[in-house]
Amino acid sequence: MITTKPSDAGRTQPARQAFDVEAIRRDFPILAQKIHGKPLVYLDNAATSQKPQSVIDAIARYYGETNANIHRGVHTLSVQATERYERSRRRTAQFINAARPEEIIFVRSATEGINLIAQTHARSMLRGGDEILITHLEHHSNIVPWQLLCEQTGAVLRVAPINDNGELLSDAFEKLVTPRTKIVSVTHVSNALGTINPVAELIPIAKRHGATVIVDGAQAVPHMKVDVQALGCDFYTFSSHKMFGPTGVGVVWGRFDLLNAMPPYQGGGEMIKSVTFEKTIYHDVPHKFEAGTPNIAGVIGFGAAIDYLEGIGLGTIADYERELLEYGTKAIAAVPGLSMIGTAREKAAVLSFIIEEIHPHDLGTLLDQEGIAVRTGHHCAQPIMDRFGIPATVRASLAFYNTRDELDLLTAGLHRAVEIFR
Ligand code: ALA
Repeated sequence: MITTKPSDAGRTQPARQAFDVEAIRRDFPILAQKIHGKPLVYLDNAATSQKPQSVIDAIARYYGETNANIHRGVHTLSVQATERYERSRRRTAQFINAARPEEIIFVRSATEGINLIAQTHARSMLRGGDEILITHLEHHSNIVPWQLLCEQTGAVLRVAPINDNGELLSDAFEKLVTPRTKIVSVTHVSNALGTINPVAELIPIAKRHGATVIVDGAQAVPHMKVDVQALGCDFYTFSSHKMFGPTGVGVVWGRFDLLNAMPPYQGGGEMIKSVTFEKTIYHDVPHKFEAGTPNIAGVIGFGAAIDYLEGIGLGTIADYERELLEYGTKAIAAVPGLSMIGTAREKAAVLSFIIEEIHPHDLGTLLDQEGIAVRTGHHCAQPIMDRFGIPATVRASLAFYNTRDELDLLTAGLHRAVEIFR
């Protein structure tokens, strides 16, 4: 078991120095399962990651020991629940090096986070003819909220192109940033291809023109250390369930001055200081953006996920996954008719591919019979599929609990599928 000593000072102590994948796998009870009589090979981590026992325990402990609503009661359970919830906010701030915990807003998902930014900060300042710049690599969650906003404000959506490897064309991006550009919203890591965008280079370009920069970090935070102050963006969003925490929790990090100036997103209880029928005074940041009872158990579980991840270390995880990605890329390249979609030089641990004359869904179904879980389809990123002239890919997305043996099983499964279909 990974054991960590969480504390507000931060900083969880790794229980061991060396990376021992078999010991790590034992922290994830679901990985011991059999599917269709075969050991589970879980390669769908970009869709959602599995949860270590410490996260499951933190949620159970909340419901078993301190279930109460937060920020509302003077009674002991409410105070304890509030303390556990707010501890997660402090841990989240430390995790991404936010300047202060008040810069962390808990929402339902990264998707909700982008919608929040679009409908508050962006909506209050956009005028007809202003431009919003995204990239061709975006998930639908970083496309559709901006299309909605364009309809509401008369702003125009621009898209920075990518090359045939699935890499953003930085020169073209730079040309698209003009004085009309008010919002630049880019993914840190592509969910469909794994491309790591050079956000540290893109952000200063956008900032030189005075644009607000939003980074969708949903696929980045499970794989690499993120420091929002070093990046210099204005907002960073991500979600708990892709980084080994529970579903139903997303994070918006925003610069304090921007959050303070933004109108609320939703109205209701908890986000107010006082209400009369004539006038409502809103609460301070972050509570102004957390109307209603939040996902208390989820946020507490999310704090445990951060403890777990930091117990291993993001640097250790990145090194291990880089090696795994290299191994898997070479292994599946030998499968007849296989083409990799997304061959960027800088990639997170995603293998997205097609095999000639075999539909991705058929491949996914055959692999499932072998206990291997992959995602097939457009991965909520249809414009990328269109860019490559395909309707879908098979995507094996890796996490630090995956092994070379599992990638060998994937490769063998693909070889078998080719034999069946040819
Ligand atoms: N965004 C998730 C994925 O890439 C659902 O699969």
